Amino acid sequence: MRRVVVTGANRGLGLEFVRQLAARGDDVVAGVRQPKLADALNKLASKSAGRVTVVQLDVGEPDDIAAAALHIGERFDSVDLLINNAGIWTAPDQPDRASSGPLADLRPDAVLEVLRINAVGPILVTQALAPCLAAAGQGVVVNISSWLGSIRGATNRGNLAYAMSKAALNMLTGRLAAELAGQGTIVVSMSPGWVATDMGGPSAPLEPPESVQGMLNVVNALTPAQSGTFLDHAGAVLPW
Ligand SMILES: NC(=O)c1ccc[n+]([C@@H]2O[C@H](COP(=O)([O-])OP(=O)(O)OC[C@H]3O[C@@H](n4cnc5c(N)ncnc54)[C@H](OP(=O)(O)O)[C@@H]3O)[C@@H](O)[C@H]2O)c1
Repeated sequence: MRRVVVTGANRGLGLEFVRQLAARGDDVVAGVRQPKLADALNKLASKSAGRVTVVQLDVGEPDDIAAAALHIGERFDSVDLLINNAGIWTAPDQPDRASSGPLADLRPDAVLEVLRINAVGPILVTQALAPCLAAAGQGVVVNISSWLGSIRGATNRGNLAYAMSKAALNMLTGRLAAELAGQGTIVVSMSPGWVATDMGGPSAPLEPPESVQGMLNVVNALTPAQSGTFLDHAGAVLPW
């Protein structure tokens, strides 16, 4: 049994992570923006024999992060696995082009919002949970990135703020892998593939169960030597 924290657990990949982790017997704290509206997750939690706890955790809200970390510290002595999954494709209530481009259509508040949630959010959540990860001995942080965050790999145009945010997240992985090595914590970026969620859309070739199963298989087999790498859902190393 492991103790796991998943952000963005209301739907999509986050919800599927919680489903699979609970099914294998892990204790899971599932962070969502609005617990009362998290119907599918609450149903899952109610059938989990206490293994799934739902907490309010908007990764853009430092107060939520502090309260969730306090709750997690009280519930668990340590955290074995943190999955920084929460993310947005574009800024809510803004036209897509305000954060995706073209350049002339970008709006500073939309670009900043995508960076704030996708890149700064994982910094703050990891900072708050670092002591719990240290207490695990060999804790693991998985930053859910994207192929679009690969500077060498994703050469297409568009999705500007999203791609920048995932490249920044990848840099966080590299920096934290070095900083947290001393406390035994492994940090990786993972690309889930193109997955049929609300974000990925119905044309995506992968379904959430397959992507998440693949990522969990990779995470289960991680070694310290792999800390600071960027991996896909099948475990292949991706270019930064
Ligand atoms: N699907 C793909 O093809 C794909 C590909 C590459 C990478 N990814 C990455 O995989 C992760 C999950 O994506 P997905 O496909 O499952 O997307 P999704 O279906 O759009 O779900 C995103 C989840 O993130 C949550 N979220 C958004 N902003 C948040 C915040 N400020 N605080 C806490 N939770 C927040 C959402 O909460 P609400 O329900 O409250 O809105 C939702 O539960 C993201 O990081 C995404 O960038 C996805």
